[in-house]
Order: sequence, then structure tokens, then C-alpha cells
Amino acid sequence: MASSLLLLFLTFFLLLAATNGHNITAILDKYPDYSLYNSYLTQTKVCDEINSRETVTCLVLPNSAMAALSSKQSLAGIKNALRLLNLLDYFDPQKLHDLPRGTTLTTTLYQTTGNAAGNLGFVNITNLRGGKVGFASAAPGAKFDASYTKSVKQIPYNLSVLEISAPIIFPGLLDAPSASSANLTALLEKAGCKTFASLIVTSGVLKIYQSAMDKGLTLFAPNDEAFKAKDAPDVNSLSSADLVTLLQYHALPSYTPKDSLKTAKGTISTMASSASGKYDLSVISRGDDISLDTGVDTSRIASTVLDDTPVCVLTVDNLLLPSELFGGAPAPAPGPIALTPSPSPAATAPAPAKKKKGKAKAPSPAALSPPAPPMSAPESSPSDAPVSEADKADEKISAAVVARSVGTLGTVVLASWAIASIL
Ligand SMILES: *[C@@H]1O[C@H](CO)[C@@H](O)[C@H](O)[C@H]1NC(C)=O
Ligand SMILES: *[C@@H]1O[C@H](CO)[C@@H](O)[C@H](O)[C@H]1NC(C)=O
Ligand SMILES: *[C@@H]1O[C@H](CO)[C@@H](O)[C@H](O)[C@H]1NC(C)=O
Ligand SMILES: *[C@@H]1O[C@H](CO)[C@@H](O)[C@H](O)[C@H]1NC(C)=O
Repeated sequence: MASSLLLLFLTFFLLLAATNGHNITAILDKYPDYSLYNSYLTQTKVCDEINSRETVTCLVLPNSAMAALSSKQSLAGIKNALRLLNLLDYFDPQKLHDLPRGTTLTTTLYQTTGNAAGNLGFVNITNLRGGKVGFASAAPGAKFDASYTKSVKQIPYNLSVLEISAPIIFPGLLDAPSASSANLTALLEKAGCKTFASLIVTSGVLKIYQSAMDKGLTLFAPNDEAFKAKDAPDVNSLSSADLVTLLQYHALPSYTPKDSLKTAKGTISTMASSASGKYDLSVISRGDDISLDTGVDTSRIASTVLDDTPVCVLTVDNLLLPSELFGGAPAPAPGPIALTPSPSPAATAPAPAKKKKGKAKAPSPAALSPPAPPMSAPESSPSDAPVSEADKADEKISAAVVARSVGTLGTVVLASWAIASIL
């Protein structure tokens, strides 16, 4: 009893912390002048890095300056530039004008990437003649080409949004390698995921991944130990269609680096997901520790192999077992097996046959049997369907999972209030 009380309060504070942070996207949405900047914050996911900081000054560029910066640049290059425009200190207009003589050095999000050599992750701020405030890279010889133009928004001591006239650049900032040229299999082999690398080649799923690499791809690559674990299924005994589905389940059709997974709410769609919410995953995060919950098992995210917008490769400790394939015990009565088209038109791999439980949304011409009568098995997502024995083991779940299933802050507030009134 006491422990469940604790759990509820913990949940409450976790949710409070998660909902109290700022949302730079929502703030900038109100200013059409910065719509391009805002759109790139979202595409590069730098918005998630900003939102996860307690103290940040976001230097925004008006659309014309942002268009000039972004033309002909790779998304990875634009991401570097945006990171350098987000200072990890609070500067409102007053503080800017009161800066001491000389230059003030401040650190930026770019410095946190670990890619910044020397002082390249820093920005110098100085009061120029005529009351202007100038910004420059801390690189030797950099010029104060960018200057403060106006204040946009302040949330005192946490978030300040200031408009500046031009980007802050140093030579090389925009030259990020293009992720689409990365050799996925070589990368995976080097990261200790040889089994996974060979499976994606033999199954043809590599081509599905590759065709997604321009728009956005996140891989959860199980390491070689994961395939040898004693409760791991024998992937060689799967039908080729199921293997394709399983491998697609280990990928997201979007660029979702670790910081973005932390802020993911509810379930997330994988490359195997259908419109009806099958083959989804949910995320459990505790600080920097992130796990994926399939409804059958959970797997910790071990390392980042590649984070290069729009491609991200992460390793996981366990195979991700979708409940649709490994839900186990009470096997559902055979429903109509419909062949659904593979999400990628360029894919040469066989289209995965997806077992549809209950009502299939759009009757497929390939469905051979007449529509099945409504089934007793509830049609629900893995996260809230304790269908199998395996799920029962998951009942000693973390506060984060409770938070997820409780869903809204309101409910938790209500619950906490109810408990408080009992005490
Ligand atoms: C921030 O706001 C945007 C737009 O208002 C919304 O789409 C997004 O989900 C919000 N992000 C978070 C982490 O709440
Ligand atoms: C605002 O900043 C203070 C002090 O740095 C910090 O304690 C607080 O958690 C921050 N609030 C948010 C919402 O980040
Ligand atoms: C920026 O600051 C650093 C350290 O204070 C200094 O070495 C550098 O010359 C400054 N750059 C400019 C352009 O003033
Ligand atoms: C990628 O690396 C693998 C070795 O891991 C090699 O066999 C393959 O030819 C490489 N592909 C390309 C396109 O270079």
C-alpha cells in the first residue's frame, strides 16, 4: 500500500516535470517570421534538445536569413548551425546591454555534441559601437556579423528568444557528412551487430531501410548477444514474411534520436506498423536510461552508433518481440490473412503478411476468406493489452509505465488529491 502510494506520487512528480518544461515549437508557432527556423528545429529535432534544457537562449533568424542559410545545405549542416544558435545561458535584452566590456564567452548546444573541437562550440557576445550587441563564433578571427535585432519572448531565467540578423558561422560548421552515404551493414558489424547486419541483407530489408534513409530512419539494432539469449526466439524458424516484419519492427520511419525518444508520448509507430496501430512500441524513460516496451518484452537502448540527421542507429540489448508475432499463449482463432503492401514501394523484399485480429480496416482484395465475425479478443495496442502470460510478468512496472497508461496529468492530480484526502 505504502509503496503504491509512493509510486503514485512519484508518477505525479514525473509528469509534472515532463509537462512543466518549455516547448520552443509551440512558442515559435505564434511568430510567422520564424516559421522556417521553427520548421528546421523540428526536422533536425534540435527542438527536443532545447526543451530538455533548464536554461537556454534561442537566437532565432527571420525567414529570409534562415532561407539564405539553409539553401543547398544538408540537414546535418543546418542542425549544426541551429545548435550553435542556442546558448546554454539566459540572456534577456537587459542582460545583453549590461554585459561587461570586452567579450563574453558562452557555451551552446553545439558544444554538447562532442563534435566541437577547441572552442568552436562557444559564442562570443560583445557590445559594439552605437549600442549594438554583436555575436560571433569563438573561432580565431571570427567577425561579429550577427547582431541583436529584437526580443521575441522571455520566460524569466529559463528561456529567452531573441532575434538576430544573421547566422553565427565558422569555417566547416556546415560541412556535415551526408548520412545517406553511410554503409549501414559495415556500421552495424563494427558496432557488434553482425547477426542483425546479415539478416537485413539476406531478407532484403536493407533495401527497405535504404529507401527510407533520405526522409528519416531510426534503427534499433539488437547486438549479437541478444540473438543468443536463452529466451530469444530462433529467427531462422520464422517464415520469411514474419522475419521481414520482425526486422521492420526494429526500425522507425522517422529520425528519432535518443533525446527525442525521451519526449515521445504514448506509442510510436515502427516501419511494420499498420494504420490500425499494430506493431507499435512504447518508450519508458528514466533520466538518460531509455527502454522500449513491446508488450511482450522490454529492451534497453544501449548505445548510439550513428546520429546523423535524418538517420539514427541505436543498439538494443534484446530483440524487440512484437505481441502480434510473439504474443504467445492463447493463439487467436485464425482470422483472414490479408496481404498488405510493403510500406516501401522500392522494396524488393516479399511484402510481410500481417495477421489481422478482429476487424480489418479496409477489406483487401487479397483476403481469401469471407470477413471474420467479430472476435472476442479485444483490439488494442500492446501497451494496454495484458493479453499474454508474458505481459503479466510486466505488471511490476515502473512509474513511467504507470504514467503512460494513466495518460493524463489530470487523472494523476485527481488520484493524488483523492489519496491526500484519505490521509
Ligand atoms: C510542442 O508543441 C507542438 C506544437 O504546438 C506540438 O506539436 C508538440 O507535440 C509539443 N511538444 C511537446 C514535447 O509537448
Ligand atoms: C528554470 O530554471 C531554474 C533555475 O535554473 C530551474 O530550477 C527550473 O527547473 C527551470 N524550470 C524549467 C521548467 O526548466
Ligand atoms: C572570442 O573570445 C575568445 C576568448 O575570450 C577570444 O580568444 C577570441 O579572440 C574572441 N573572438 C572574437 C572574434 O572576439
Ligand atoms: C558495405 O560494407 C560491407 C561490409 O560490411 C561490404 O560487403 C559492402 O560491399 C559495402 N557496401 C558498399 C556499398 O560499399
